[in-house]
Amino acid sequence: MKHLIDPMDLSLQEIDDLLDLADDVIANKEKYAKVCEGKKLATLFFEPSTRTRLSFEAAMMELGGNVLGFSSADSSSSTKGESVADTVKVVSCYADIIAMRHPKEGAPFLASLKSDSPIINAGDGGHNHPTQTLTDLLTIRREKGRLDHITIGFCGDLKFGRTVHSLIKALSRYEGIRFVMISPEELEIPEYLREEVFSDGKLTYEQVRTLDEVMPELDVLYMTRVQRERFFNEADYVRLKDTYILDMPKLKNAKPDLSILHPLPRVNEIAVEVDDDPRACYFRQALNGKYVRMALIMNMLEIA
Ligand code: CP
Repeated sequence: MKHLIDPMDLSLQEIDDLLDLADDVIANKEKYAKVCEGKKLATLFFEPSTRTRLSFEAAMMELGGNVLGFSSADSSSSTKGESVADTVKVVSCYADIIAMRHPKEGAPFLASLKSDSPIINAGDGGHNHPTQTLTDLLTIRREKGRLDHITIGFCGDLKFGRTVHSLIKALSRYEGIRFVMISPEELEIPEYLREEVFSDGKLTYEQVRTLDEVMPELDVLYMTRVQRERFFNEADYVRLKDTYILDMPKLKNAKPDLSILHPLPRVNEIAVEVDDDPRACYFRQALNGKYVRMALIMNMLEIA
């Protein structure tokens, strides 16, 4: 049985096939409307979510399947002390596939060791978010027409942002990616990621402190929220939260075909005025998340 815990669980060919399938879903929605009839998806969310949980649920509904689950740990028996392992062992009796989010890094991996149904990591702490990565890759491919030879700037909280960590790992396998990290010193990418992706010297990255100094060079700008829930100290969060705010003056020197991505939710880091600029891709990105999750569910249930 196949689980999806880390973006590197998927080969480049498997990613290509999933993105091709997502493109076909977008072009031919009615073809897929009943393919999951009789199948059930469980969404076990021990941490808040809007996009990931609801797009998973919408994805399964649009495939003709059913959904069950919980949206917070408070409404599950984990409040009575039940372990993740027991929860998942039981839910895998009820559901054909499980999407799970948990604040503890590694919890979905632990779940995968106990589950009788495939587990999809829907975000574990500050670690990984592989289905957001598939969403991001689909968005970049649809917007730019390629996944190689791209200069991408990651801006904001690169320390705690799991979407950043997963996307850096995934993009590290494509040719000609230039990584530019834009963050304060306290929010630079974690040491483990530096070791995993950049330590052998085959790939490098540039670290800068301001958006302005790199804006004209970027093909993709990946903005992120400062992850308040992962800070140990509110004062540090308050000091760092508004370090980067993308507004129209900041875009003055950007390429005309820049693609602005953000996994969302946003707080202040992109001014609302940017939403109307054609370079703002983040709401299209959120929609792509539903289509790529439809592709993933079909793939993991061996329907397509
Ligand atoms: N991008 C993302 O994971 O959003 P949610 O936290 O709303 O699921």
